[in-house]
Amino acid sequence: MSERVARILDEVRKYHQDRRDDRGFVPGVTEIWPSGAVLDEEDRAALVAAALDMRIAAGFASRKFESAFARRMGRRKAHLTNSGSSANLLAITALTSPQLEDRRLRPGDEVITVAAGFPTTVNPILQNGLVPVFVDIDLRTYNTTAERVEKAIGPRTRAIMIAHALGNPFEVAEVAQLADEHDLLLVEDTCDAVGTTYRGQLVGTFGELTTVSFYPAHHLTMGEGGCVLTSNLALARIVESLRDWGRDCWCEPGESDTCRKRFGYQMGTLPAGYDHKYIFSHVGYNLKTTDLQAALGLTQLDKLDEFCAARRRNWRRLREGLAEVPWLMLPEATAGSDPSWFGFVITVDPEAPFERAELVAFLENRKIGTRRLFAGNLTRQPAYAESEFRISGDLTNSDIVTEHTFWIGVYPGLTEEMIDYVIGSITEFVGSHR
Ligand SMILES: Cc1ncc(COP(=O)(O)O)c(C=O)c1O
Repeated sequence: MSERVARILDEVRKYHQDRRDDRGFVPGVTEIWPSGAVLDEEDRAALVAAALDMRIAAGFASRKFESAFARRMGRRKAHLTNSGSSANLLAITALTSPQLEDRRLRPGDEVITVAAGFPTTVNPILQNGLVPVFVDIDLRTYNTTAERVEKAIGPRTRAIMIAHALGNPFEVAEVAQLADEHDLLLVEDTCDAVGTTYRGQLVGTFGELTTVSFYPAHHLTMGEGGCVLTSNLALARIVESLRDWGRDCWCEPGESDTCRKRFGYQMGTLPAGYDHKYIFSHVGYNLKTTDLQAALGLTQLDKLDEFCAARRRNWRRLREGLAEVPWLMLPEATAGSDPSWFGFVITVDPEAPFERAELVAFLENRKIGTRRLFAGNLTRQPAYAESEFRISGDLTNSDIVTEHTFWIGVYPGLTEEMIDYVIGSITEFVGSHR
């Protein structure tokens, strides 16, 4: 690094310090966000350093992040994308690739998924002409069970695509075993659960493919961003091709003959020697990211352990502080897991003498941010009114979640003082309804 760049970055770090908000926490005035990015002076300096280099497309930092993140997540390959939703789209679309031959998913094939969750876990199933089979969840863990997944398997079922709910894992070891027994392809949506373990193993390492989001609400952020991870090298090539316009060539931007036979291919009915850079083996997208995003990802990755520890600490403080409050169903970690929590989920007992809406309004009025368990029961959302899907069993708990559940934050930007104020506020509200 030149002396001049070092001076600029030093100034950037000072600027960051000067802009710090030292007003302290004022109950009822300071916003207690449910989630948000936690950015320090190194993050700001990394963004500026990337900008000074004018690395405006994916390059050195992207490759470095991909290999560091793959290592951290226990997978052989990681491919950056512009969002977690794009990562999900790529993961499911990859499973439809003709290169998978007999194993490929075909239109009309079924994919088992969960009814209560985020829409873009499910959308790629529909977008690829596949049929979602919705299963219900358990209250308190907000995840489905291996038993429900097993019951949902039918003659056309070919894959399973499930998210670990708000950091808490589904019974992924047992579901992976089912996938094995029934020759199903398993995709883990790990967007909300980076760092979570199940039976001592990192989630995201059980399935064929796993996806992550780097939107500011998530465990690590790049502003916008996501990732597809796999240890299956053939699938990794397919993901890369689909992400990069569908091309067959795997040269990085700025490279042109990595395979040393750029003009030596004959594919389809193209003339022999057609430039490999312009041979397309998939009907692809462009879902790439930039080096500015990756540069931020790298400095965020340095703090992952600290972030996960803070999320666990904050969740435990809320759990202990609210343990004696009546009428609230508090969350529970899935048996055998150590979740790296995304949020703290509360279901208001349907028999409670108050409604969820009243409690949420009380908290929001005190600047305590709340969120829903995303879409609730997706089959009730207008977007899916004309979609083809199958429901396995019933969706009773997904309906309860739609009507009675919300979540509050545990992200590392929250202080003990804030969490104690949240606990005090909820206790006060419920106490006033005895
Ligand atoms: C479980 C889950 N999957 C996918 C996504 C989509 O990620 P992104 O916002 O980066 O598109 C989210 C978003 O929060 C999510 O919670």
